[in-house]
Amino acid sequence: MPDKILVVDDEQDIVKVLSKILELAGYEVISAFNGAEAMQSARDGNPQLVLLDYMMPDMTGLEVLKRIKEYSDEIYVVMVTGRGSEEVAASVMKAGASDYVIKPFVREQIIKVVKDTLRIRGAEIKARCLQEEVQELNRGLERKVEERTRDLVETQDRLIHQTNLASLGEMSGGMAHEIRNPLNSIALYSQIMMEELEGDDPKREYLTKIMSDVDRINAIVTNLNLFSRRIKREKRPIDLPSTIRASLRTLSTQFMKNGIKVILDMEPEIPEVLASAEEMEEVFSHLLVNAVHAMPQGGDIAIRVRKMKGNTKAELLRDTPPAQREYIEISLKDSGIGIEKEALNKIFIPFYTTKSDWEGTGLGLSVVDRVINDHGGIISVESEPGKGATFIIRLPALESGTQFSAA
Ligand SMILES: Nc1ncnc2c1ncn2[C@@H]1O[C@H](COP(=O)(O)OP(=O)(O)O)[C@@H](O)[C@H]1O
Ligand SMILES: [Mg+2]
Repeated sequence: MPDKILVVDDEQDIVKVLSKILELAGYEVISAFNGAEAMQSARDGNPQLVLLDYMMPDMTGLEVLKRIKEYSDEIYVVMVTGRGSEEVAASVMKAGASDYVIKPFVREQIIKVVKDTLRIRGAEIKARCLQEEVQELNRGLERKVEERTRDLVETQDRLIHQTNLASLGEMSGGMAHEIRNPLNSIALYSQIMMEELEGDDPKREYLTKIMSDVDRINAIVTNLNLFSRRIKREKRPIDLPSTIRASLRTLSTQFMKNGIKVILDMEPEIPEVLASAEEMEEVFSHLLVNAVHAMPQGGDIAIRVRKMKGNTKAELLRDTPPAQREYIEISLKDSGIGIEKEALNKIFIPFYTTKSDWEGTGLGLSVVDRVINDHGGIISVESEPGKGATFIIRLPALESGTQFSAA
């Protein structure tokens, strides 16, 4: 398509001559005879270039020039001025004209200025497009960098958390080991003393208290051992729904006593997971006991198990994410007191507890977190005070072997 040029002059003859010259040179030409018409044609005709007379009766060329430039910066304007008005020429250039021609002009001059201006216009518009493209690319890059930075920070947090846990585990494992032997002898000697006392001896009460405290310390030591993962339990393919049912059976009297209803919603054909059944039972029993504690007036526990497909966040950030993998999601929702926002990131820390000495040691969730991590899974929690709590566990299905670890 030929370039389109709008010729504006109040003198009909000049418009005619200019049109002829330009048409012969292969351009398409439209024309206007005053400022108002010029604006109209600029809008309707969408020319690439305007040859604009500086002196017109209704509007000065400068005025028209400004309006055209306001309307579109892709219409280039060459001003045609009378002789002896070099200062005028300078001012129109400042106002956005691309070039100027001084009357009277010759054919070659016009052709040259039009050709040059159109060439510059083409180059400038192309450069502008490229610049926009580059900016868009930059914005995309910035977004990507931001996302990756966020992901790295998360990964780092998680690693720090895991390193902390590992050293805490190391220490607590050592402590557990050191405590167990003296504890055994306290238990043993208390038992012997108990047997030696007369049936109505008042010291029996003290010994009973000692023995129940020993039980309590023993429970803590067991948890510390679990947490430290000194004793590695063997993993084999297990059926999670059966493990969950077993944990529920163990706690059924507690549920009854506390007025708690359990609602089970398990999808059929849940794939197996590679896990230690004992550890998984520990996990569910810790979560269930916590739910019971959170509902002193009774309530509901809803357990849902389903298989899902997806990618980890780290995988999604890759340029070509791998195929989605299969995992199993277990959500455990209670209707209890819920958890304060500030406490949400503390509950998995060892020894964090809001319970009295007799109810909690603060080790349950740290054991849970440790075990789930060790199985390549993740656990998260959603809760608001007064609105219950939902713990969500994701474990890789056996066939897929997804790892939800940070990497
Ligand atoms: N289902 C729940 N509802 C409300 N709070 C909970 C729930 N589960 C855990 N918590 C909070 O997390 C804390 C830590 O839990 P946990 O590690 O099991 O230790 P413990 O039960 O011995 O206190 C609890 O003391 C409690 O404040
Ligand atoms: Mg607990």
